[in-house]
Amino acid sequence: MLGPADDLDRIMHVMERAFAPEFGEAWNRRQVGDALLLPNTRYGLIAPDGADTVGDDQEPAGFFLSRSILDEEELLLFAISPDFRRLGLGHALLSRFIEQARSNGIKRLFLEMRSENPADVLYHAHGFRAVGRRPGYYRTPDGLRLDAVSQALDL
Ligand SMILES: CC(C)(COP(=O)(O)OP(=O)(O)OC[C@H]1O[C@@H](n2cnc3c(N)ncnc32)[C@H](O)[C@@H]1OP(=O)(O)O)[C@@H](O)C(=O)NCCC(=O)NCCS
Repeated sequence: MLGPADDLDRIMHVMERAFAPEFGEAWNRRQVGDALLLPNTRYGLIAPDGADTVGDDQEPAGFFLSRSILDEEELLLFAISPDFRRLGLGHALLSRFIEQARSNGIKRLFLEMRSENPADVLYHAHGFRAVGRRPGYYRTPDGLRLDAVSQALDL
């Protein structure tokens, strides 16, 4: 049986590789550890073979982290490590997240992403639709501004 501390290591392993540093989207270990202590926060992992547990001898391929309030849930973080992209693992993990939310009684899912993120195609394929936009919310160190796009999916 894998303990939460091992899974925190696994999440951080993916986090450190998956997010482009210029957008400041990655969370640090303390932020994730604190979030995992909250009862309404949940996470999921995916192994390179698509399994939902990652063995000690395996490199974690991806994870999600989410937070629910009553019957709504927000996908806070979603990532697949660069070495394992374009293999369908993003599709598999997102499907799992949505199905688990549905069986937990969640009625509406939310997420926020920066505009022009290729993840948009993935979210759209699973039924998420844009419901709001915050112009210029993300600012890169070189001064580029990108909108934040809120998306929702009714279950
Ligand atoms: C977005 C992300 C999770 C996709 O993971 P993945 O395992 O490569 O996804 P899949 O292989 O299941 O592909 C899902 C679909 O997304 C789209 N997609 C993914 N990466 C893409 C890219 N670089 N360019 C264009 N489309 C892309 C495609 O439509 C793809 O389907 P296809 O391969 O059948 O065409 C991954 O690129 C990632 O972790 N990015 C960095 C973190 C991030 O931005 N997370 C989301 C916002 S919080």
